[in-house]
Amino acid sequence: MRNTPSILVFSGSTRQGSFTKQLAQVAASTVDLHGGKASFIDLADYEAPLYHQDNEANNGLPDAVIRFRALLHSHDGMMVATPEYNGFVPPLLVNMFSWVSRPYQDTAANALFHGLPVGLMATSPGGLGGVRVIPRLRDYMAELGAVAVPGFVTLPHAATAFDKSGRLQSEKAQSSLDALARRLISACQTI
Ligand SMILES: Cc1cc2nc3c(=O)[nH]c(=O)nc-3n(C[C@H](O)[C@H](O)[C@H](O)COP(=O)(O)O)c2cc1C
Repeated sequence: MRNTPSILVFSGSTRQGSFTKQLAQVAASTVDLHGGKASFIDLADYEAPLYHQDNEANNGLPDAVIRFRALLHSHDGMMVATPEYNGFVPPLLVNMFSWVSRPYQDTAANALFHGLPVGLMATSPGGLGGVRVIPRLRDYMAELGAVAVPGFVTLPHAATAFDKSGRLQSEKAQSSLDALARRLISACQTI
């Protein structure tokens, strides 16, 4: 039982001014508020080439991927905020998860994800808040062996969803984030 689970929090967009990154930052603060220890990272600091099996065969895993997987390995859970690209998971996340799913040294394929509790969030400037990407990301997580905790957070109208300090304007949205963070922390405490 881990009293203060460590949660790696990141966004599937590295865009300057990304709404998803803002949501991930609020999520990290929310995890801390509810008794976890969040590490927010920007995937821009872990830039990996497009996954190609020849590249892997010739060069092994890129340094950025090795650093990311070491970080993931040192955490008890993961919280992912994603944008929705054509109803789907954006290439940035597919690419990083593809690299991290590969065997490395004495770690088998997908081993890092096995049983890893994950909280899922999406946001969009549109009215649906990226809700269509959630089941796709949940399936992807399951395929990797991670365990997405029940529920999710979607944040519609992202352009007006944050106040000047970066907090969520809507109490309802914040309370749904509170609930997700608590469920994730509790899942991490019981693995
Ligand atoms: C390739 C592409 C596909 C998109 N598809 C969707 C979509 O399916 N649903 C949606 O709500 N927004 C869609 N958008 C708009 C994004 O939600 C919007 O660009 C958002 O700001 C991206 O997230 P970010 O602010 O975190 O970078 C798409 C944007 C791009 C670039």
